[in-house]
Amino acid sequence: MNLADLIRNRRTIHEYSDGTINRELIEEALEMGLWAPNHKMTQPWKFILLSGGTREKLSELLVKIKSEGKDLNDVAKKAIYNKMQNPTEIVAVGMHRVDSAFQQREDYATMACAIQNISLFLWEKGIGTKWSTGAAAFHPETYEMLDLDPQEIELVGLLMMGNPKKVPEVKPRVPLEQVFSVK
Ligand SMILES: Cc1cc2nc3c(=O)[nH]c(=O)nc-3n(C[C@H](O)[C@H](O)[C@H](O)COP(=O)(O)O)c2cc1C
Repeated sequence: MNLADLIRNRRTIHEYSDGTINRELIEEALEMGLWAPNHKMTQPWKFILLSGGTREKLSELLVKIKSEGKDLNDVAKKAIYNKMQNPTEIVAVGMHRVDSAFQQREDYATMACAIQNISLFLWEKGIGTKWSTGAAAFHPETYEMLDLDPQEIELVGLLMMGNPKKVPEVKPRVPLEQVFSVK
């Protein structure tokens, strides 16, 4: 696929089929992330591949969060649990905290570029991703289970990965004319 098609056809994947992703491929993809532009070469990245045990804890945490103030039955709880179990792999993506709000903003932009690099690289190999900033992504217990000090690292999301079970319909973008001008 050429680059333009790759960019247009990549979709956020919400449902994954069974399978594995070679660890080397994951590392190759993350390494692609490191080639994202980063102002002043701050290289803010931190990537943590979740083990089965951590995933288990994260799935339970999601059930806890989603059950708060509700009386969910076991079926509903299991569905929430399974949602976090469904991706083949999950990488927690973080960035180093800095004192300067300006740099922190620029570093977040870098992380977005890195995630896009990773996602496009994997998409080309037939692997789908989802950048998730859902309820569990920034929860204090997520920092704990990942052994992260929130004073040092800011999580920017969970990057889900796996073979797409279903590729969503294209979500059309606004026509360029609507947002482009020459002045
Ligand atoms: C910063 C960021 C956070 C996102 N968080 C979520 C999320 O928590 N859950 C989700 O389903 N999708 C999430 N997405 C994916 C977007 O919903 C998705 O990119 C958008 O709907 C467009 O779809 P596409 O990626 O298939 O083109 C996130 C995307 C970005 C850039």
